[in-house]
Amino acid sequence: MIAVINGPNLNLLGRREPEIYGHESLEDINNWLLNCVSRMGESGMIFVQSNSEGELVGAVQEVGFDPAVRGIVINPGAYAHYSVALRDAISAVPVPVIEVHLSNIHAREEFRHKSVTAGACAGMVCGLGKRGYLLAVEYLLASGGGVR
Ligand code: DQA
Repeated sequence: MIAVINGPNLNLLGRREPEIYGHESLEDINNWLLNCVSRMGESGMIFVQSNSEGELVGAVQEVGFDPAVRGIVINPGAYAHYSVALRDAISAVPVPVIEVHLSNIHAREEFRHKSVTAGACAGMVCGLGKRGYLLAVEYLLASGGGVR
């Protein structure tokens, strides 16, 4: 099973700056992902969204130590740019974690260029919209998950 965790303001997808983040809601994207993954013969995914840093840390800890979870895909939203606590949670768990950003953070404001969380992840995808989530899930399934 793969867990997909989305951080702050991603609950507003579809309504939030659609010229940057697109017109689909988070529910649309999660349903599309679940569909793609079930066509790959995988059953079930865990979806979490929270606007709270503490809840995101808790979610990474919980799914990251769940033996049924093979990997985590996380879009930390703005926390990517400054949350050492979230980075530490990612470092703490034994499963591989892939960071995803819908937008190309390197083509935007300078404060978005740096991700403090990405350095603790197995990899990072940005700028490819919702397909970034799918690429990350495909990687985790193909690599068999397990220890980084
Ligand atoms: C984002 C990029 C972040 O800089 C921003 O704070 C977000 C969304 C993305 O998916 O492109 O909330 O993570």
